[in-house]
Amino acid sequence: MATVYVDNKPYPMNPDENLLHGCLSHGFKLPYFCWHPALGSVGACRQCAVKQFKDEHDTHGKIVMSCMTPAAEGTRISIADPEAAAFRAGIIEGLMLNHPHDCPVCDEGGECHLQDMTVMAGHDYRRYEFDKRTFRNQNLGPLVNHEMNRCIQCYRCVRYYRDYAGGNDLNAFASRNTVFFGRSEDGILENEFSGNLVEICPTGVFTDKTLKHHYARKWDQQFAPSLCVHCGLGCNTDAGERYGTLRRIVNRYNHEVNGYFLCDRGRFGYEFVNSERRIRRPVLEGRPTSVALAQRQLRERIANGRVIGIGSPRASLEANFALRTLVGPNRFYSGMADDEARLVRRMLEILQHRPVRTPTLHEIEESDAVFILGEDVTNVAPRMALALRQSVRQQPMEIAQKLKIPLWMDHGVRDALQGAKGPLYIATPYATRLDEIATATFHGAPDDLARLGFAVAHALDPRAPSAENFPLANEIAGALKAAKKPLVICGASCGSEALIQAAANVAMTGEAALSFTAPECNTVGATLMGGSPLGDAFRAISDGQADTVIILENDLYRRAPAHEVDSFLKTAAHVIVLDHLANATTEKAELVLPAGTFAESDGTFVSSEGRAQRYFQVFVPQNDVAPSWRWLKQDGWKDLDDVIAAMSEPLPELAAVRQAAPPATFRINGAKIPRSPHRESGRTAMLANIDVSEPKPPDDDDSPLSYSMEGTPDQPPAPLIPFFWSPGWNSIQATQMYQKEVGGPLRGGDAGARIFEPTGANRQPYFNTIPAAFEPREGEWLLVPIYHIFGSDELSLLAPGIAELATKPYVAVSTGDVTEGAEVDVSCASGTFRVPMRIRHDLPPGVAGLSMGIPPLVGIKLPAWGKIARPK
Ligand code: SF4
Ligand code: SF4
Ligand code: FES
Repeated sequence: MATVYVDNKPYPMNPDENLLHGCLSHGFKLPYFCWHPALGSVGACRQCAVKQFKDEHDTHGKIVMSCMTPAAEGTRISIADPEAAAFRAGIIEGLMLNHPHDCPVCDEGGECHLQDMTVMAGHDYRRYEFDKRTFRNQNLGPLVNHEMNRCIQCYRCVRYYRDYAGGNDLNAFASRNTVFFGRSEDGILENEFSGNLVEICPTGVFTDKTLKHHYARKWDQQFAPSLCVHCGLGCNTDAGERYGTLRRIVNRYNHEVNGYFLCDRGRFGYEFVNSERRIRRPVLEGRPTSVALAQRQLRERIANGRVIGIGSPRASLEANFALRTLVGPNRFYSGMADDEARLVRRMLEILQHRPVRTPTLHEIEESDAVFILGEDVTNVAPRMALALRQSVRQQPMEIAQKLKIPLWMDHGVRDALQGAKGPLYIATPYATRLDEIATATFHGAPDDLARLGFAVAHALDPRAPSAENFPLANEIAGALKAAKKPLVICGASCGSEALIQAAANVAMTGEAALSFTAPECNTVGATLMGGSPLGDAFRAISDGQADTVIILENDLYRRAPAHEVDSFLKTAAHVIVLDHLANATTEKAELVLPAGTFAESDGTFVSSEGRAQRYFQVFVPQNDVAPSWRWLKQDGWKDLDDVIAAMSEPLPELAAVRQAAPPATFRINGAKIPRSPHRESGRTAMLANIDVSEPKPPDDDDSPLSYSMEGTPDQPPAPLIPFFWSPGWNSIQATQMYQKEVGGPLRGGDAGARIFEPTGANRQPYFNTIPAAFEPREGEWLLVPIYHIFGSDELSLLAPGIAELATKPYVAVSTGDVTEGAEVDVSCASGTFRVPMRIRHDLPPGVAGLSMGIPPLVGIKLPAWGKIARPK
């Protein structure tokens, strides 16, 4: 640590950082705009000025930008110096010359960094009397709103969008003294991480367009710490509610997981919670019924029937466990398709019992050589793709280090790097978005990808088996070997166990960490629960071992071919379904129970990293909606902690779930943690048309959070942070006040408890089942899934903004007698599906891609051989 004197007092600061970073880490109120912990410094806005002195005898000093000056040993600066303060006030006055005067109608108002900095810099009177510069706004699509008049030209947006997220359709367009930040013409922002502009832009230029449809100020919303439910990465979110509807999702910083950023599916997919398809009352034989009658029916069916339970990888551990306990462990099924369940079990077996380490997303960002085997990361685990876009900078960063350019000096580093990229090798069945930054790519059928993987492992360790010598394998192995933090990424997307084993072999050479993606938010947790897959549940009913089935938050038509599900549901004498949205499975149920979504329930998910994380109820559900675990709970379970305690007994590997968040009894100085910001003004007024006296807020027995603004003013532990706020910091930049050091871990540790750690050095034999090389077949195609960030996920597809962007279903081939857009029938063992044809030259010969998860392309077992024909 270096000692830096701020207004004559010594402070320890990280010498590898700049003065702004150091000052903010010590809680100084030093205004800034263009600097961001994830983006570094460019010195564009001149807002962070301080006075620097040569030594203690220097009384004159000079103005410097704190974000552009290293926190070197012995540096002496003054924030309070009148000249520095006047400089900062002058800068903000300049920025405000053209800024509109209408904060009350700006969506950013009340959580605006520009508002905060204007107050902080002491600019409180407008002297400017002339016309303001105005711009034409653009329609940037359904997710992000554009209001250019509010721009202060800090350049954060383009630096984030282009340099950090890899987008190229947003830019700064300058003409004379005018700079415009937007697209060259109106149109949907193309980058999958465009929503982060909402938090990156320090003013109201880029705001959440989905929030606009049901707008509420930050201080009028009720928040809870939550988790994204739209893939297996477990990004941390804060969810905001008002009047019983979910209003928006914002990023909840977790240094080890999502850092400052979410993907657009995660940020904007929340609106399924407000969908008209929500089930809000129990339904018995097609008619609404009372909760009491529904519960009696449930009890009777359990008492009199031979019952099995089907869990779900999109339901919480607690809900799955409640069902498992209700029907008995031997009668509990995981709810996953057979192939997927087998593959995920294999992945967990590798992570639990082999000497390999699964990295956090933050560690993925720091990897300096990466080999992706079979995964279309951008579309399957989007936030990981953003991490990989940073990982390719790691190795070239050495150039900057050699030139002694501090790594926080963004422009200098980028100039030195000249766009150089470190090793990233991608082997997938089709071209992916990340191919544009890859060192080399290989597109092949899953078996050929696996063969490449085995060959890489063999090139790293000759004892690992291989079928052939790929020159590319030697190149990949060389890059992994030369790297300090090498990584291999794989998953279940291709439906190939050989691929998973090949990736494990690469990691087991000791030359790479191993990251598996998981398809859904609790795929890993549901697998740890230990039930057999769906096919066994189907057999239990068809063999007569059971006559009643309880299905938990699971549309079986998305998991298995329709004819199999039809026959299963028809054969079962009684079908009971708990879910939050009407779907093809609930339609066939005798009894439907309204389950809470993530926003109306508490629970735990286990992410693909193996991190158990808790999410909390944002608002008390309306009507008869209740968390699934409450519908299914045992008599002795009063609250969520009772379920968690009961769970760790039969499932000791889930004991770490207790550490995921403090129990409901947790208090800070005897007080709960408020869900609402203390500036909240509207709770009383909200119900004034009914009663002017404010009703007692609902009780919450399941968490240490209160349903009001009352509670501790202190900062809660990381898993319990409902919103980021600190005096003077009303925007999301308040995150820095919760970190040990700006940009670093949260105080008290980041949220979540890791379940898997490597089991030591005991060397396991390599996997050795190498598939034969792929042989195309005459008249048939190997059908493989193609994933889409907008469309393949069941729940986000019901959010209007995401639905607007969703890909339409299609089948794609690279060659043959086909017409783009013509309808064809795709037939395979799972059925026949009529979809339009697409030509994708990136697919290998003999391989056809199906846009997976986009109706009607659901419930299909892939990969599978199939035929494509013109409709008769
Ligand atoms: S649009 Fe926002 S982020 Fe971009 S330059 Fe303007 S104020 Fe900065
Ligand atoms: S990457 Fe996955 S978990 Fe993260 S925000 Fe996107 S969909 Fe959600
Ligand atoms: S934050 Fe330092 S110049 Fe912009």
